[in-house]
Amino acid sequence: MEVLSILPTPVAIIPCPFHDKLKATVLDHIQGEDVNDLAYNVNSGNLKHIGHYSVLMDDLKYGRFRTWCEEQALIFARDVKGDYIQEHIQVTDSWFNISGQGGHQHPHCHGNSYLSGVYYVNFNEEEHVPTHFTNSESLFQQMKPSLINLPIKYTNYNQDNKVMAKEGELLLFPSQVLHGYDLNQGENRITLSMNYMPTVLTNGDYGWRVVNLTRQEREKAFNARTELSDHWGMNEGLNPPHGMKELPNPE
Ligand SMILES: [Fe+2]
Repeated sequence: MEVLSILPTPVAIIPCPFHDKLKATVLDHIQGEDVNDLAYNVNSGNLKHIGHYSVLMDDLKYGRFRTWCEEQALIFARDVKGDYIQEHIQVTDSWFNISGQGGHQHPHCHGNSYLSGVYYVNFNEEEHVPTHFTNSESLFQQMKPSLINLPIKYTNYNQDNKVMAKEGELLLFPSQVLHGYDLNQGENRITLSMNYMPTVLTNGDYGWRVVNLTRQEREKAFNARTELSDHWGMNEGLNPPHGMKELPNPE
């Protein structure tokens, strides 16, 4: 039997030439954050995200690193994916993930995003768990009947792919790819995640320019989301579970 592997998914691993400097800046930044500003991940109590999504917008701290990340994304988009990028690729969102022992991240993908990246800020391969990528069909159509087989052996076509990146490396991948990580075995696994969009998005006929949110717009959206999560019962204590009368005012 001849077996062909068709339509592979590209994932790039790129070492950052100035990792030591960046790591020092990030560790300093995290130490300076008030712990209360860290939002807990709903799925894993041992995983914290910084509660806003624009850490790389700070030019003074991260301008050089952001520029480097955007340059790598441009190469990935044009040379690896073969996409027409009229102008450039920009980081739209970025956040820290700090995982203690026992932290994990269930398989997910990033919406409203073209490419995603994970940069390994503090990562010891002996104890920190790698990022995995999955294409398990049971995760795609959970709201519809799907065929779920019991795997009796793992092959290239049914297993999670663990990407073994090292500290100081940036993983780049298309945002729709499902990814996550299993139980983390050590403290302080720190990664910096980011989403990208082209500055101009066009299919050759039509398109639009993508402009990053201002800080005020980002805060407004974040507050609206918080109010809505209360409204829908995702936050115990503030929840009228049924019979909502009106949507909360997101202003
Ligand atoms: Fe993610």
